[in-house]
Amino acid sequence: MEFPEVVRQRYATKRFDGRTLPQGKIDELLELIRLAPSALNLQPWKIKVISDPEMKATLAPATGNPEMTTTASHILVFCADTEMETLVGKTMDGMVKAGVPGQIMTHVRELCEQMVLCLDTQQRKEWSTHQVFLALGNAVNGAKALGFDSCPVTEFKPEEFRRILNVPAHLFPVVICPLGYGAQPANPKLRFPLEDILL
Ligand SMILES: Cc1cc2nc3c(=O)[nH]c(=O)nc-3n(C[C@H](O)[C@H](O)[C@H](O)COP(=O)(O)O)c2cc1C
Repeated sequence: MEFPEVVRQRYATKRFDGRTLPQGKIDELLELIRLAPSALNLQPWKIKVISDPEMKATLAPATGNPEMTTTASHILVFCADTEMETLVGKTMDGMVKAGVPGQIMTHVRELCEQMVLCLDTQQRKEWSTHQVFLALGNAVNGAKALGFDSCPVTEFKPEEFRRILNVPAHLFPVVICPLGYGAQPANPKLRFPLEDILL
């Protein structure tokens, strides 16, 4: 499917039909998510993939729509990573391996210092969350491109998720994305007309 058609057909799927997605599809989707852009290429996300029915049932009460959670094949839990020192280090290592010239490396390092290394934990969480939402975009459009459905969900209890999934302190669950095959057809798209969104 061409990308414009993917965007037209993707919809927030509130109930799934219970079928399990093949692991190959999940792997393909994770690869599309991995390739998402991020500021300074810091990729400040960690994703927990849930497929175990018991775990989905345990998490369901901590979500706004338990039925969506339990009927989904898989649930991606997107966490914002605030351990900037590690991320900067990994990004710089990757640039060295790729043979990026020293001058550019120095510039990127300076930008990292000015833009992220100076932030406190709350600011880091916000900064990383913005990046996570780009990865989420790849997830929802990627799912449709690969032939299945998804729903971005912020109505959930992050601290409950942290406790149940034993998420480390430097990671913050910020959005979840149930995946599967939709049980109902998409509703018509309700969107503002173009003139309303142009300044
Ligand atoms: C960041 C984000 C958070 C969302 N959170 C929820 C949610 O918690 N529960 C839900 O049912 N839908 C959620 N949605 C889905 C939106 O309600 C939906 O995308 C919007 O109504 C447009 O409908 P469509 O995606 O089917 O075109 C979320 C969407 C986004 C982008």
